[in-house]
Amino acid sequence: MHPCGVRWKDSASRTMISAVAAGAGTGGESAERRNCSARKSRAKARPGPASVVRWGRIISGSELIRLVRRLGKERRGGSGDDLVTRLVTPNADGEALTFQEAGSFFILPVAAGNETTRNAIAHALRLFTEFPEQRRLLMADFEGRIAGAVEEVVRHSTPVIHFRRNVTRDCELNGAPLKKGDMVVLLCSSANRDEAVFTDPDAFDITRSPDPHVGFGGPGPHYCLGVHLARREVTVMLRKLFTRLPDIRATGDPDRLASSFSNGIKRLPFDFTPPAPDA
Ligand code: HEM
Repeated sequence: MHPCGVRWKDSASRTMISAVAAGAGTGGESAERRNCSARKSRAKARPGPASVVRWGRIISGSELIRLVRRLGKERRGGSGDDLVTRLVTPNADGEALTFQEAGSFFILPVAAGNETTRNAIAHALRLFTEFPEQRRLLMADFEGRIAGAVEEVVRHSTPVIHFRRNVTRDCELNGAPLKKGDMVVLLCSSANRDEAVFTDPDAFDITRSPDPHVGFGGPGPHYCLGVHLARREVTVMLRKLFTRLPDIRATGDPDRLASSFSNGIKRLPFDFTPPAPDA
């Protein structure tokens, strides 16, 4: 039981939030509190109507913005190496975010860096259960194959299903005329199973090379800002899971999130043999 009184069923979520908070320099305790607050709001709200759940998120979001604004005021001009200090301290060109902007900015990595990575890890457990030969392959040379495995988990599961863009000038894409002002949807999950790009796209193959997926977005300015952190988080989590709990496996179908945006897993039943106490 966590000190906030909410049972932690989802260690992946906790790890991701703490990693983002560490980069931000908000401190572990604050990170826990923010996450607790979000969890409590959601727990209280569940199973109420969607509007109540949204209200809980708004309250948690405002708390986070207030925290970052306060830290920004305290740290502006300081020598700290954390993200809050960097964002609010003017750079060589005199540019800096306002405290309000820094507060709002933090909603993005917390949202973008939490659901995505946590879902990728849940999908990894699902995939490595479904494809045991790929798991044997990974464990035969974990350090040599984990980088390819992470890319393949992201390609195969595509945690972010789509993003939308506004067309800024008349153009043509693969023969389709697009007009300035049109709205287009980038279907990452479809692109990641494109048979013109990937051989046997439905296969989960951790040795796939090259693996030019768009699970972290397409090339361009919006390419995932947290890609290196995401890769590291999934790597660390799988290394710990598969070495400390070597027989961990999913034992049933995932309870999937009903969403056209996030390929989320709400719950995934799993089982493992507990390690010996001195292990
Ligand atoms: C497996 C994990 C992750 C996946 C699959 C993922 C996926 C994506 C995708 C598809 C985009 C492109 C959005 C677009 O085209 O508009 C994106 C952008 C972004 N991601 Fe990630 N992401 C992951 C982890 C993270 C992490 C850990 C962070 C930060 C802590 C992060 C922060 C961001 C931010 C800030 C953007 C917006 C970049 C911009 O528009 O300039 N992501 N991510």
